[in-house]
Amino acid sequence: MLKQPVPYRKIIFVCINKKEDPSKPCCGAKKSEEIVAKLKQIVRERNLKEYIRVSKLGCMGKCEQGPNILVYPEGIWYSNIKEEDLQFLFDELLKPFI
Ligand code: FES
Repeated sequence: MLKQPVPYRKIIFVCINKKEDPSKPCCGAKKSEEIVAKLKQIVRERNLKEYIRVSKLGCMGKCEQGPNILVYPEGIWYSNIKEEDLQFLFDELLKPFI
């Protein structure tokens, strides 16, 4: 086993879980993959890959509140993200780096 410090200053976990039963709420059915793609694009464009990791995550048990994002080391949980929240969210998440 290798134990080492986390190599990123921030990790953004985005739930992309998609349930087979369309009657059950899930982040994957609420465009969370698009949030991942946009976040990764911004991180790439701003040369922040060395500092920020955007990572896909499975279900976190708050499916009805999705899309859900967890941010570490801050320990912040964003839920119910709407299209109109995205710019604020991206600015907030990347604030210390831009
Ligand atoms: S599907 Fe995202 S929290 Fe369950």
